[in-house]
Amino acid sequence: MTESWPCPALREFELGPRTTLRVGGTVAWFLEPATPDAFVEAWHAALERGFTPRVLGGGANLLVPDGRLPGVVITTARMGRVFRPGRCEDADWNDPRQGDPSTGEGAEERAELVAWAGMPLPGLVRVARELGWSGLEGLVGVPGHLGGGVAMNAGGRWGEMWDVVETVRVLTTDGEVEECSRSACEPVYRDGNLGGAVVLGAHLVLARGDELEIKERMRQYLAEKSAAQPVTERSCGCIFKNPDPELSGGRSAGRLVDECGGKGRTHGDAIVSPKHGNFIVNRGRATAADVLYLIEDLRSLVRDRTGIELEDEVKRWNPVPDREAGGEVPA
Ligand code: EPU
Repeated sequence: MTESWPCPALREFELGPRTTLRVGGTVAWFLEPATPDAFVEAWHAALERGFTPRVLGGGANLLVPDGRLPGVVITTARMGRVFRPGRCEDADWNDPRQGDPSTGEGAEERAELVAWAGMPLPGLVRVARELGWSGLEGLVGVPGHLGGGVAMNAGGRWGEMWDVVETVRVLTTDGEVEECSRSACEPVYRDGNLGGAVVLGAHLVLARGDELEIKERMRQYLAEKSAAQPVTERSCGCIFKNPDPELSGGRSAGRLVDECGGKGRTHGDAIVSPKHGNFIVNRGRATAADVLYLIEDLRSLVRDRTGIELEDEVKRWNPVPDREAGGEVPA
């Protein structure tokens, strides 16, 4: 190693396998901190070396460019922890407002969890289900990690991430660690409204529920989702945000693509899913260029036929990092 980092660091790391779409090239340095504190250290170490780090979570809503990225990607993959506040000895933030956890006083009554940014959403949903705690059912089948889920307010028709977020701990663009409440953040549709801050973790408040009812709701949502979306294929989720229903007559982005005849279009090994018009699927060896081509193809198709301008939901990294711009935070 020519440089030393405060956490495990890999050179010339291939990013495609770390995304659900499985496209994209390599990065010069790939840092793997295991705690929120280590993440902050890695962040500052990268800045000291002149890099604006990009952050990779579950890679579920991200398009990584082909080729080689110079600089640094920090992954939250090793920060996959969830615990009950005040019950985890090595947790580095136990909320003092929770009282003394050692007495257990009230701890059994509260349906609260702290999750770090790298906690996979499917695992989080499973934990809630096993505890019989309600509030996360709407996220069943949503890939990615907590960090990205909070940053972009992941979700769908049955619920979204911020339904259960009480506070979020972030690393601001100024490099400060701050706690931000739901009312201060004012999350909106598919946007946690964090102003580019990186999510380190979140404090979640759920509701005690009936385990069987929670399981049944999840089963039903998952069945509906699997019937409508290519959930088992390689994609980065919905490509476009749903447009303002007043402009689109209530039609979703997928339905607009469908009505305009965009389903099934291909470029290289990328295809607009024949099942759902707002998904692009990697059939095997698709490149980022193939996917980008289809995104613009669909956008102009819908614009020409309807006058509606579809806006990206998927995040992209620019091929050449811009020290000023920083990186996007994926789901
Ligand atoms: N539709 C079509 N043709 C298509 C696709 C959809 O006619 O090709 C119709 C459907 O029949 C339905 C309507 O469009 O009447 C809406 O479709 P769907 O129920 O699949 O929901 P969506 O609005 O396309 C949203 C989220 C999804 C989330 C689902 C379910 C956005 C952009 N998408 O999709 O989230 O899974 O609701 O809750 O908000 C994601 O964020 O990556 C994502 C997939």
